Amino acid sequence: MSEAAVIKSPSTEGRFGHAMLKVEGLRRYFDVSAPWLNRVIGRQPRQILKAVDGIDFEIARGETFGLVGESGCGKSTVARLIVGLHGPTDGSITLEGRNIAGLTRRQMAPMRRRLQMIFQDPYASLNPRWRVRDIIAEPIRAFDLVSGDQAIATRVGELLTFVGLNPLDGEKFPHEFSGGQRQRISIARALASEPEFLVCDEPTSALDVSVQAQILNLMKDLQRELGLTYLFISHNLAVVYHISDRVGVMYLGKLVEVAPSKTLFTTPRHPYTRMLLDTIPDLDMTGRERMPVAGEVPNPITPPPGCSFHPRCPFANDRCRVEAPKALPVSGGATVACHGVEEGRVPSGPILAPPPKPDGVASVHG
Ligand SMILES: Nc1ncnc2c1ncn2[C@@H]1O[C@H](COP(=O)(O)OP(=O)(O)OP(=O)(O)O)[C@@H](O)[C@H]1O
Ligand code: SF4
Ligand SMILES: [Mg+2]
Repeated sequence: MSEAAVIKSPSTEGRFGHAMLKVEGLRRYFDVSAPWLNRVIGRQPRQILKAVDGIDFEIARGETFGLVGESGCGKSTVARLIVGLHGPTDGSITLEGRNIAGLTRRQMAPMRRRLQMIFQDPYASLNPRWRVRDIIAEPIRAFDLVSGDQAIATRVGELLTFVGLNPLDGEKFPHEFSGGQRQRISIARALASEPEFLVCDEPTSALDVSVQAQILNLMKDLQRELGLTYLFISHNLAVVYHISDRVGVMYLGKLVEVAPSKTLFTTPRHPYTRMLLDTIPDLDMTGRERMPVAGEVPNPITPPPGCSFHPRCPFANDRCRVEAPKALPVSGGATVACHGVEEGRVPSGPILAPPPKPDGVASVHG
C-alpha cells in the first residue's frame, strides 16, 4: 500500500497551537516580456515567470518555520509577499484570521507594525546617513508607540542593550560597525515596532561563521523572551535544521515537502529534498547511499510540464511528465508532493543522520 494511503493526519505535531499565519494558494507571477514594440517586431510571445506558483503552509504562534531551496526557487518572493512588499497574483495570506494579501499601503499600516523583516545585507537596509539612534527610533515614532524625545531615547537604549550593543552606540553611524553588529542594529530596528512575526531572509548568510552563531543564538533568545514567530529563510541546511521547528522545501515556485525539521532531515521523502540533503557532507562517515541526480534548475519561465523536478529525478515515470503532483500527508506530520511517494515507488525510511551543529549554534533539538 502506498505511504500516503495509510496516513490520516497532516498534523504539525503538538508543541504549538493554532496557525498565526496561513498561506493558501499563494501565487506571484512576474511579467518579464521584452518591451511591447520589440515583441511585435520580433514576434516574441509574452513571458511570464511564475516565481511563486500556488503554495500553502501555516506557521503557529511561537514557531520557527524554515524555508529552503536552491537559488531562484522563490524564497525571497514568499518573504516579500508576506510583509506586503509584493502584491500576490492570487491566493491569500491570513494573519490571525485577517487576509492581508494585496492590502493597500494604508490598509496594511496597522499590520506592518506586527510583521517585520530582517534582510541578508544589514548595510543595505540601514540608512547610512542616519545615526543608529534615529534608525531605531523611526518605527517607534511612525507607529506612535512612545511619546516624548526622552522616553524614545530611553527605549532606543533599551533596544540596543537587548540586542547586545551599548546604548552609547546610538550616536554612531552604520559604517562604524562590523557586519554582525549591523545585523544586531537591524534586529533592534525590527523589534522597535514591537512585532509578533519576523520574516528573516538569509539573515546570517553574509556573516562569518562565528558571528553567524552569535546572531542565531540572539534570535532564539529573543524568540523565547518575546514569544516571536519566525519565517526563517536560508540556503544553509545545517542552520535551518538547528533553528527551525518545521521546514518547507521549495522547488521552482512550489513547496514540494513540509515536515517537522527532525523528520525532514532524518527521513526526507521527496527526491528533491533527498538531493538537497545529499549536499551536506557526511562528516560522521555513515557511508550512506547518495541519490544520483543530474542537471541544473530549469528556466523558471518555461518550467517542465507535470512535476517540474522530473528531468532531474531518478524516479520519474510517464505520469510525472504530464501530471503535477499534489501535496499529500504522509507519516511524521509531513506533506509531500510526489507521485512516486504516493505510489510507494520512492524508497522511504531513515537515510540520514541529522546535520552536524554549526559551531556555537544552539539547536532547538537539544
Ligand atoms: N521583481 C522581479 N521581477 C522579475 N523577476 C523576479 C523578480 N523578483 C524575483 N524574480 C524572479 O523570481 C524567481 C524567484 O526569485 P527569488 O528572489 O524569490 O528566489 P530565491 O529563492 O530567494 O533565490 P536566492 O536563494 O538566490 O535568494 C527568480 O527566477 C527571480 O529571477
Ligand atoms: S513526482 Fe515523479 S518526477 Fe516528481 S519528484 Fe516525484 S517521482 Fe520524481
Ligand atoms: Mg532570496
